[in-house]
Amino acid sequence: MRIITTVNGERHEVDDVWEGESLLYVLRERMGLPGSKNACEQGECGSCTVYLDGVPVCACLVAAGQAHGREVGTVEGLAGAADVHPVQQAFVDAGAVQCGFCTPGLLVAAHDLLAREPHPSDPEIREALAGNLCRCTGYEKILDAVRLAADRLATADGGPA
Ligand code: FES
Ligand code: FES
Repeated sequence: MRIITTVNGERHEVDDVWEGESLLYVLRERMGLPGSKNACEQGECGSCTVYLDGVPVCACLVAAGQAHGREVGTVEGLAGAADVHPVQQAFVDAGAVQCGFCTPGLLVAAHDLLAREPHPSDPEIREALAGNLCRCTGYEKILDAVRLAADRLATADGGPA
C-alpha cells in the first residue's frame, strides 16, 4: 500500500508498504530517518517515541498505515530551523547522554512535557518520562537535563517550539 504522511513538516510518499510494517520501520528504513531508535519493538522502552498528530506515541506499536494522512514529528525535527533544540542542548550539557540509545525518545517525551508544563515538579518529570527506559544514566542526569531545559526555556522567549 502507499502511505502519504507529513514528517517534520515534509510530505513523504512511500510505496509498497506491507500492512504489518510499523511506523518506526518506515521512518528508519524507508524514509531515512534513523533518529528514532528500535530497542525493544514491544512498546516497553520508549526509545522510538515520536509525535503522531502532536501526541507522543511508541512508533514501534503504530502500524505505518495508521500514519497515513497524519502529521509525524521525530527527534530529527525537534530543533526546527535551529541546529539544536534547547532540550537537546540541555541533555548534552547535563551529561544525560551516555550510549544515547534512549535519548531520542526521552527528548521527544521531555519536549512534550515542557510544552504542556513549562515548570514541572520532579514527580511530574518522573511521571512524564516513566515510559522511557535508560540502562546507562541512573536517571539523575536526565532529571537534571529536564530541569535545566525548563530553566533555560523560562528565560528565553516562548516555550518549546
Ligand atoms: S522500540 Fe518502541 S517502545 Fe521500545
Ligand atoms: S544513555 Fe544508554 S540507555 Fe540511556
